[in-house]
Amino acid sequence: MPSLTELVRSHTDLDDQDVAWLQLLQADWQIIADLSFADLVLWLPDREERGFWAGAQMRPTTGPTAYVDDVVGTFVPVGRRPMLDAAWAQQRLVREGDPEWREDVPVRVETIPVRRHDRVIAVVARNTNLLGVRTPSRLELSYLQTAADLTQMIAHGSFPAPGQRSDHADSPRVGDGFLRVDAAGRVAYASPNALSVYRRLGLSGDLAGLLLADLTRDLVPPRRRPDEERLSAVLGGRAHLDTELATDEVALIVRAIPLRPQGEHIGAVILVRDVTDLRRRDRELVTKDATIREIHHRVKNNLQTVAALLRLQARRIDSEPARSALEEAVRRVGTIAIVHETLSEAVEEQVDFDDVADRLGRMVTEVSAAGDRVRVRRDGRFGVLPSEVATALAMVLTEVLQNAVEHGYDPSSELEEPVEGSVRGEILVTVRRLVGRLHLSVEDDGRGLPEGFDLDGSTNLGLSIVRTLVESELGGQLAVGAAPAGRGTRAEIDVPLE
Ligand SMILES: Nc1ncnc2c1ncn2[C@@H]1O[C@H](COP(=O)(O)OP(=O)(O)O)[C@@H](O)[C@H]1O
Ligand SMILES: [Mg+2]
Repeated sequence: MPSLTELVRSHTDLDDQDVAWLQLLQADWQIIADLSFADLVLWLPDREERGFWAGAQMRPTTGPTAYVDDVVGTFVPVGRRPMLDAAWAQQRLVREGDPEWREDVPVRVETIPVRRHDRVIAVVARNTNLLGVRTPSRLELSYLQTAADLTQMIAHGSFPAPGQRSDHADSPRVGDGFLRVDAAGRVAYASPNALSVYRRLGLSGDLAGLLLADLTRDLVPPRRRPDEERLSAVLGGRAHLDTELATDEVALIVRAIPLRPQGEHIGAVILVRDVTDLRRRDRELVTKDATIREIHHRVKNNLQTVAALLRLQARRIDSEPARSALEEAVRRVGTIAIVHETLSEAVEEQVDFDDVADRLGRMVTEVSAAGDRVRVRRDGRFGVLPSEVATALAMVLTEVLQNAVEHGYDPSSELEEPVEGSVRGEILVTVRRLVGRLHLSVEDDGRGLPEGFDLDGSTNLGLSIVRTLVESELGGQLAVGAAPAGRGTRAEIDVPLE
């Protein structure tokens, strides 16, 4: 569906300020659609005056729609909808006319010129599905009266209110709670929902006739309400603004739209919405995140303690194989600790794995005898990974890097003696994130795999862990073979990502 701006650009002569005005109108016209129980369509004048283009549309949430299909982007030539032509040419509200029949639905149409300063820049058509119309209740009469005031204001150029756009995602709707106050700020009508909101706030009697600003000031403690100026501007219905206030039990958003149908301030629509549950959920999310981070922090500390205990034990053991087995365990525990440490700093259960991978690369070379002759280089980005994937992948990467350092560049290898201070071996970690997959290859230029190496037949612990994690835990694939460069070894890992 084309956007309002696109339609304006391709078919009309309206300028940027006109578009800004129409967008401001659009930001608030859900309220008018709801109060009117009607569909609104914004019609834009064609550049060559051949007719009108439908630039935007809003359905009511309070009643049945008059349009089953979207109309945005359609064109109506001059002459087909005389009421559009009349509102445009005569610059006035047009409401006389017989109902139109659209696919067996009788629809009453009214057209409203949209004025910006001294020009009419578009026409709003208000389409009421007459099948939904009943004998009006007080609520409905009050809604319709307010809708009529607002449409007058559109025609006079006093709605939308310049610069007062409400971007509040939680902004109240008509159905959340509707109040109409008079010019003095006294409640003339309150919908049942608005009354319930005030009951929850602590009101015991009725709202009718009370000064809303005074009443609210009495119910809400000073520390939970806006400054006096804003409070009386919004609740007195004198400014097109919204504000949030609360008691210890209830939180609400209040929104005011002053009414000046003939230019003179006659009162306001005030919408109220109980956002207690929303705010509680916000708070719970914040504390839940903090708790999870704290747990990761403690897990990391515990793992580091375990690693320290194992290291202590390793030092006391004489048997060389037993000692190196314990040292390997220390390293594996340390790897998991690194992931938890990263998670304890993360905002969500997501890990920026590039940092983890680089730290693992350093850790593996630091603890190895061959380490100072080997460099790990990364090409490509892992990006952000979910924590389950990150933990498994960290283990996998550590084992594979460890093998490259240990078996590829072992000091007792037949490679020539290193040149003092320079890098001898390079382990290249290549990452590619494809759609829904992650491809990782770790390639060294070391000694290469031993004769007759068989991954499936290998019973050594390191590659067994890698294979289990890649295939079972991550649901991916593992291959280990000679590096294509003709020297060294390459491990390739391919895992699916959500
Ligand atoms: N990058 C590599 N370069 C040379 N040989 C390797 C490499 N990776 C693995 N290997 C061989 O595969 C064997 C199995 O590795 P692994 O399961 O990690 O056990 P470990 O490292 O404890 O020996 C190693 O002993 C080694 O012979
Ligand atoms: Mg190994």
